[in-house]
Amino acid sequence: MANQNLSDAKKTKNDEFYTQFHDIEIEVNAYLEYDPNVFRGKTVLLPCDDPEWSNFTKYFAQRFQVLGLKKLISTSYAPDSKRFKYGYQPSLFEQESPQFDISKTQTHGKIFVVDRDITGDGKVDYQDLDWHYLEGDGDFRSKEVCKLRDEADIIVTNPPFSLFREFLAWIVSAGKQFLIIGNMNAITYKETFPLIKNNQMWIGATGFVSDMVFGVPEGTMIKESDKAKAAKLGYVGNYTRLGNSCWYTNLDHGRRHQPLQLMTLAENLRFSRHKEIKGLDDYHHYDNYDAIEIPYTDAIPSDYDGVMGVPISFLDKYCPEQFEIVGMCENMDLYLLKTKVYSSKECKDAYFKKFGKQGTYDLNASGVILKDNQLEKVYQRILIRKK
Ligand SMILES: C[S@@+](CC[C@H](N)C(=O)[O-])C[C@H]1O[C@@H](n2cnc3c(N)ncnc32)[C@H](O)[C@@H]1O
Repeated sequence: MANQNLSDAKKTKNDEFYTQFHDIEIEVNAYLEYDPNVFRGKTVLLPCDDPEWSNFTKYFAQRFQVLGLKKLISTSYAPDSKRFKYGYQPSLFEQESPQFDISKTQTHGKIFVVDRDITGDGKVDYQDLDWHYLEGDGDFRSKEVCKLRDEADIIVTNPPFSLFREFLAWIVSAGKQFLIIGNMNAITYKETFPLIKNNQMWIGATGFVSDMVFGVPEGTMIKESDKAKAAKLGYVGNYTRLGNSCWYTNLDHGRRHQPLQLMTLAENLRFSRHKEIKGLDDYHHYDNYDAIEIPYTDAIPSDYDGVMGVPISFLDKYCPEQFEIVGMCENMDLYLLKTKVYSSKECKDAYFKKFGKQGTYDLNASGVILKDNQLEKVYQRILIRKK
């Protein structure tokens, strides 16, 4: 995995990574640009949050009227239920509220609601947050949070990394609109990829390219290089950068309707900037799929009508009017696209031929090309076809 923090987070099940206001703002702006009424009259739920200082709560509460929200609900998870313990202290806001209860502060989740002008200042915003303790710890799977999910139109959050699959299933099973942050590797999960393939979910407007910075609780172990990268981006202190995060959504945005500008097959073979393609007689055809291997998204030939294996990063540029996704090169052949399954002897022979020693090359896990008379696995590929 490219990013050590995320892999460490997975190992220790640390889910405490807090999203920055600017990242929320630029992402949400893209949906508003596409449809200024996307949130109008809607109930937005922000689960798995820490509403007292969450930037999601701040953003949506502050823009309650501009977005035209009907209701904003934000829920938090009880400090005692969190896997990562970091010396919780109730906030001043909580302690000074009449409903503060020392017997509940560590063990109960909280719910914050904005739906009317409580302060009487003529506007509805952050000042109008009304809160109380939840019955339970605020687990998104609890009955009371499921009820809030059912009431909501749109669910927005950065869910716990360790429960991403479960969280996504929790939203999708209720048929809700959503905007959530996840790890890019989640694309290939068997629970996630079918949604992407069927255009029920796509990559958010920010895309893959950016480094996302997250706040972390005091005392979190952060890799120095990631801390330095966050600092370079202007976030100094308890911040880290995760290079492999992205937004997942089923809200439409304009960027996904911009077709890629591509060269023809003949032009690519002649002029491609990639040495793996320029000068070839033809693209490599897989030995185990009826498809050609495209190692770079910008090398997709505009005039090829068959199936093409493209890098996962293609999804960042995916325009559903231009291409359809037909499957993925993977072990299980969920989309019935494999034309060949290698025997264990073939896997062993291929390994020996390539590395000159005993071993097994798992040829069935990916697309395979024949290069210099050797079977060669390629990186993870998505299979697409021109529309
Ligand atoms: C990645 S953090 C994001 C927090 C916040 N949404 C944000 O973006 O700033 C995920 C949060 O979910 C909480 N969490 C973990 N497991 C949970 C569960 N089962 N139900 C609800 N929240 C949970 C974690 O304690 C953590 O605070």
